[in-house]
Amino acid sequence: MNALDIIRSEHRSLSAVLHTLQVLARSARERRVAPDFALLRLIVDYLDSFHQRFHHPKEVGHLFKALRGRTGEAQGTLARLEREHAESDARLAVLRGAIDAAQSGACGLDELASVVEAYADFQWRHMRTEEDLIMPLAERELSSEDWQRIDTAFADDDDPDFGTARREEYRRLLASIAEHAPPPLLGSGGAGPYWQKPGR
Ligand SMILES: [Fe+2]
Ligand SMILES: [Fe+2]
Repeated sequence: MNALDIIRSEHRSLSAVLHTLQVLARSARERRVAPDFALLRLIVDYLDSFHQRFHHPKEVGHLFKALRGRTGEAQGTLARLEREHAESDARLAVLRGAIDAAQSGACGLDELASVVEAYADFQWRHMRTEEDLIMPLAERELSSEDWQRIDTAFADDDDPDFGTARREEYRRLLASIAEHAPPPLLGSGGAGPYWQKPGR
């Protein structure tokens, strides 16, 4: 897989997890029944590690960097995407806080579902901007030498932060979420209808 295919594939995993999060919160709100808090926390841990510490740094360090070196066309958008990466930590902390508060009874299921919707919407918009604006621009502007460098960096299996061992750790975490999610969410092992392009 080349770098763009890897990014798209990671977005599909993230979309599926975000969708699972939304369905759990919506269903709890509608049925007035407490959600599976352990599963919600597993999802937050996955978002924290896979999305924030694994996915974002590769985008910034390789794709965004190369694009900045080739064109001034998307400088504002790239700056916004990087601000959103930085903002994601605080947004995830709000989500974690809402899950804790819902479990202790300090906030209701309506409020939890609202926080979940806001978080998922923010992340979907972010991924859609990357897929609809930044990736096509990169395909137009970057040279074959750029792609060779980026693809090599994305495929570096020995990298302690981004290599095979780390990918395997995230795959296990995702499998664990899938195992506990009610069908037909992630229970299909990634082949289900929710593994779609972000926001669709
Ligand atoms: Fe991003
Ligand atoms: Fe992304």
